[in-house]
Amino acid sequence: MPSIDIRPAAANEIPTCAEIWRESINDYRSRLNQPLIPAELGRIIRLQHHLVATDPGRFVVAVADDRIVGFAAAVKREHLWFLSMCFVRPADQRHGVGRRMVEAILPAADSGATLATATDSVQPISNGLYSRFGIMPRLPLLSITGYLTNPETLPDLPPGVVAVPFETIAAGPPGDAGQRELAATVGALDRELLGVEHPQDHRFLRLEGRHGYLYRDAIGVSQGYGYAWETGRMGPVAVRADALMGPILGHLLRAVPARGAQAIWVPGAAGSAIATLLRAGFQFEDFPVLLSWDRPFADFERYLPISPGLL
Ligand SMILES: CC(C)(COP(=O)(O)OP(=O)(O)OC[C@H]1O[C@@H](n2cnc3c(N)ncnc32)[C@H](O)[C@@H]1OP(=O)(O)O)[C@@H](O)C(=O)NCCC(=O)NCCS
Repeated sequence: MPSIDIRPAAANEIPTCAEIWRESINDYRSRLNQPLIPAELGRIIRLQHHLVATDPGRFVVAVADDRIVGFAAAVKREHLWFLSMCFVRPADQRHGVGRRMVEAILPAADSGATLATATDSVQPISNGLYSRFGIMPRLPLLSITGYLTNPETLPDLPPGVVAVPFETIAAGPPGDAGQRELAATVGALDRELLGVEHPQDHRFLRLEGRHGYLYRDAIGVSQGYGYAWETGRMGPVAVRADALMGPILGHLLRAVPARGAQAIWVPGAAGSAIATLLRAGFQFEDFPVLLSWDRPFADFERYLPISPGLL
């Protein structure tokens, strides 16, 4: 291979990175006779812009002979370093490019950071590569999709628990009292369940148009939150008590009707969520993704992440 230069990505290189993402995934999906990723890359490009905007130094490209052959992007949220994407063009794989990109964006060895990522279970190279850094596959992350064919099976919110749309709490301009109250409440739930706060990712979700709800008990204490979107995408969901997981999913499914199928990423530890969704008519889709980390950091029984690209 020619010499490789690893450097921070420029914003105008993001469309090329999105193309590499599609090309390298389709390369192994076609070998497995799996449906291919279509050419429309708007969603992934918006996510990549969010990654570069919130952690610019950790979005790098690998360049050989003036050509981008790979890219990697991680975000650091407090002590949690999360590798969101790492992709190398099929023709350039297994020559050490992936390893060099990961090394370039890892936190310093003495930083005390927790390292995590989510990988495709059918991709042994990525699982092998990240495991060398201690980031080992620990838990399946299941894609659960379909239609609400059995709505009568959905549990209701318990008496006294009310769903409050984020917009009614934070209706004012950024920084006003309502916005601060919402950020503090959601931040406290994230700290308890995910281990870190990530307000920048919540801002991204709301800019994307996802509808957030806070679930308050009879004395006004917030017991969880959840998001859903008319596109059918649901999550993240965070609940203090496992018993509230099913009722919150039930509320989200009914409160935000989707234009088509609905879909949510559910960690294998979240048994109540899986049971509720299967009873309601949903199905497992595709091979699982593997949540990988070097040490435990979150309660994945009670926290359903945004996606494999952003916790
Ligand atoms: C995953 C990917 C980014 C890795 O980049 P790469 O340049 O091909 O990988 P590298 O050559 O730097 O490193 C591969 C490492 O995995 C190891 N490896 C490969 N297959 C392995 C296996 N079956 N078991 C364990 N380790 C394995 C190699 O030995 C090597 O480790 P080493 O550097 O210690 O020898 C790239 O292959 C890719 O884009 N794949 C398709 C898309 C994908 O799955 N991306 C990851 C999404 S999370």
